[in-house]
Amino acid sequence: MRKKVIAGNWKMNMLPNETIEYIEKLSKLVKDTKNEVILCVPYTDLFYALLTAQNTNIKIGAQNMHFEEKGAYTGEISPQMLKSINVEYVIIGHSERRQYYNETDETVNKKLKSAHKVGLKPIVCVGETLEQREEGKTSDVITKQTALALEGLNEKEVEETIIAYEPIWAIGTGKTATSEDANESIKEIRKEIARKYGQQTAERVIIQYGGSVKSKNAKELFSMSDIDGGLVGGASLDAEEFSKIVNFDK
Ligand code: PGA
Repeated sequence: MRKKVIAGNWKMNMLPNETIEYIEKLSKLVKDTKNEVILCVPYTDLFYALLTAQNTNIKIGAQNMHFEEKGAYTGEISPQMLKSINVEYVIIGHSERRQYYNETDETVNKKLKSAHKVGLKPIVCVGETLEQREEGKTSDVITKQTALALEGLNEKEVEETIIAYEPIWAIGTGKTATSEDANESIKEIRKEIARKYGQQTAERVIIQYGGSVKSKNAKELFSMSDIDGGLVGGASLDAEEFSKIVNFDK
């Protein structure tokens, strides 16, 4: 049985004092859940988040990283730097980074490899645009993105990679994919993984849905056969709302 994994993606929001307050509140609200709870916070909040989340069931992640270990890359953060302060997760290839910061399937793949090298668990995002969906290319786009992201990883690394299926048209728009559509897309991704890495690996990989997940729709989405939780943007900024998403099965 796969676990449900609910990750918040704060994007460029929240200051350290807000981070501390939020995690103190959230930790009380989610302490009894069996679901995995992750918060992916801005770099400047990481240290505060890690300290506040100590002795709770909340795990902390970053939202991006460079693929190199070190070097002349002004303004960048390496996987080793994240690992050194005990960050456990890192989002890779979010559509906002693909769209605004030239993230490509190639850099996503490099980042996945270097995350695994230091033992960071990547949450890699894939998803189609509205245009691609309307042209009937969803399945092609997401299976190709998945294959390129995972290229060269071994089975164990694939199993330890979380995939977030995030249709781009559903991010921050209030529009969600129907639970059936999201489930179908996720099944396609799982099939692609099975084709390359075998059925057992495919059955073990956590594949989340992301795009306008709220407490109102979480239960319906996360109860589908292949949807193993969610990557939550806007609705993760409020501790109470996010706790309801985490506790969707209560
Ligand atoms: P949203 O964002 O929940 O605000 O749509 C999801 C994401 O970008 O990961």
